[in-house]
Amino acid sequence: MKITIGSDHGAVQLKEEVKLVLKEFGDIEVKDVGTFGTDSVDYPDIAEKVCADVTSGAADRGIVLCGTGIGISIAANKIKGIRCALCNDVYSAKMSRHHNDANVLAMGGRVMGFGPAGEIVRAWVTTEFDGGRHERRVGKIAALEEKFGKE
Ligand code: RB5
Repeated sequence: MKITIGSDHGAVQLKEEVKLVLKEFGDIEVKDVGTFGTDSVDYPDIAEKVCADVTSGAADRGIVLCGTGIGISIAANKIKGIRCALCNDVYSAKMSRHHNDANVLAMGGRVMGFGPAGEIVRAWVTTEFDGGRHERRVGKIAALEEKFGKE
């Protein structure tokens, strides 16, 4: 699985921790689009870089991080084809895959401990979409993108 990851300045350390967790999996290839320092950057720019890889197929999934995870998840969800789940617990992370087929995971570097974040990531990358009735609902999300001109 190919995963593109990015964070703003509020989650650079968390990004490094998440990359260490992803290294546990032999079959996950990670691309890091930054940011790499403490200089302030704008989280929508990071969301765009990560999500462009997901929508183009260059990545299977994305992980986006900012101070709270809120801003970057809102930005990611403006991009057609992105289903970004802001997760602060393992149950939500699993359900975002089982029911929502979330292709992007968001977390917050200022609200999330490294330990819990690692567990969330492990759950999220190993959980599959259930399909079935959830396929219909995910299809309706795509229909909303068309109806309201999300691009
Ligand atoms: C940046 O200061 C901060 O606003 C950002 O990391 C994030 O928390 C926004 O939702």
